[in-house]
This record gives sequence, C-alpha cells and structure tokens, in this order.
Amino acid sequence: MATRNATTGILSEGKAAEREELIELLKKAYWMEIETVMSYIASSINPDGVRAQEIIESLQEDVQEELGHAQQFARRIKELYGVVPGSLEFAAEQSYLQPPEHQTDIVHVVKGVIEAETGAIEHYNRIIEFTDGLDFVTQDMVIAILHDEEGHRRLFEGYLREYEAEGLA
Ligand SMILES: [Fe+2]
Ligand SMILES: [Fe+2]
Repeated sequence: MATRNATTGILSEGKAAEREELIELLKKAYWMEIETVMSYIASSINPDGVRAQEIIESLQEDVQEELGHAQQFARRIKELYGVVPGSLEFAAEQSYLQPPEHQTDIVHVVKGVIEAETGAIEHYNRIIEFTDGLDFVTQDMVIAILHDEEGHRRLFEGYLREYEAEGLA
C-alpha cells in the first residue's frame, strides 16, 4: 500500500519551495549554534583573573545550551526532509569572539558574547516571521530558543553594566 504525503502544512508537496527556503534558514541557525559552542568553549577556559570566574561559569553552562540548540535545529532540518550538513560546509563568522590580546580582558569577551547573542536573536526573529502561518512547529521551537538567547544577552548586558559603571568599558 502506498503511503500518502501530507496534504496540508509544511510537509505537503505544495510547500516544497517554502520548505527548501526554511531548511536554508535552519542550516544557518545550526552553524551559528555550532560556532557559538566553539567560541564559548574557548571563552570559558581562556580568561584569567578574579573577575573572570562568573563569566567562565556562565559560559560553561551556555556551551551545553547552545549545543542543545544545534541539535534541535539539526533534528528539525531532517524532519523537513533536509540533510544536516557536513563540517566541510562550515564557514566561521564570529570575528568578534576571537581570543583577546590579554587573557584578563573580560570586557572583550562580554561584548563578544552580546554580539553573538544579538546575531542569533536577529536570525531567529527572521525564522519566526518566515514560519508564521507556514510551519507552526518550527516557529514554536524557534520561539523557545529565542527566549534562551534573550536571557543570555540580558545576563551579559548586566555584566557589561558593571564594567561601564566603573569606567572599564
Ligand atoms: Fe543558541
Ligand atoms: Fe545563546
């Protein structure tokens, strides 16, 4: 007995073009998460100094969260009949999260994290708008991830405020 394709929703044949476009947006999100994992591993280990500890602990936690996000994006790509890309397709973009000249330069790390989270927030808002009325499952998933990123950004904005108050940023 032949199986039947979905007749409505993002998995239907009529939505093939939209699905392709969405998969590309999800692949970009997947790579952003992967690069964030790399940058946060380095940034949670490199910093030196008494004031680095809070940042180190925050980023250690975030590594696990961002990895979880990458896995969610990957799973959704497959559910939409896409293929999770191989590592050769990866291209790094996070110039702002490279190790600072001095390992005690915490402000550099804090600003880099805010930049990364802001980029994620912008891209995920775009996916949420693209999926509106088209794919509520992806939309729901990305809304939850966006919530995490907004929390990350707010936490690091709080760290930056302290440095700004002391004239260090
Ligand atoms: Fe993330
Ligand atoms: Fe994040």
